[in-house]
Amino acid sequence: MEDSLHHAVSVPHEASMTGCEQCVSRRDFIGRAAFAAAVLAALEACGDGQIGAPTTLPDGPFVVRVSDFPGLSTTGTLVDVSSVAPARAVIRTGTATYTGFSKICTHQQCITDVRNNRFECPCHGSRFANDGSVITGPAERSLTRVNVTVNADGTLTVG
Ligand code: FES
Repeated sequence: MEDSLHHAVSVPHEASMTGCEQCVSRRDFIGRAAFAAAVLAALEACGDGQIGAPTTLPDGPFVVRVSDFPGLSTTGTLVDVSSVAPARAVIRTGTATYTGFSKICTHQQCITDVRNNRFECPCHGSRFANDGSVITGPAERSLTRVNVTVNADGTLTVG
């Protein structure tokens, strides 16, 4: 009886002789657990766990020199002016008229890309036309417009 109990709880001979070469050491385990916790905390901070932090439109206004953006010389061409006016895009609508947009997606506030003369959101795939209206969801609302003023020196003030 004592002998059969001993066999039931003993470690197999092979495992006890070779150790556990593929096992994780306690230090590795703690390090990996801490890394995983940090990643989860970072994703949680992003709202729904998506990559890409939600954002708000930086305060303006910003001055945009039309000559720095060749696309603004053509009516109907959507131009990303984020390099001087963060998270904004402008389209020329006439001889001396422009419309400005926030590039922040109305779904969950990712910054859209200006591509193919429209806005494309990298987070969940919403697309917006060059007038800001929704082409494809999940976004349900048009992009927010920002004021654009044409200045005497040919620059634009983008709100
Ligand atoms: S944030 Fe979800 S589609 Fe843009």
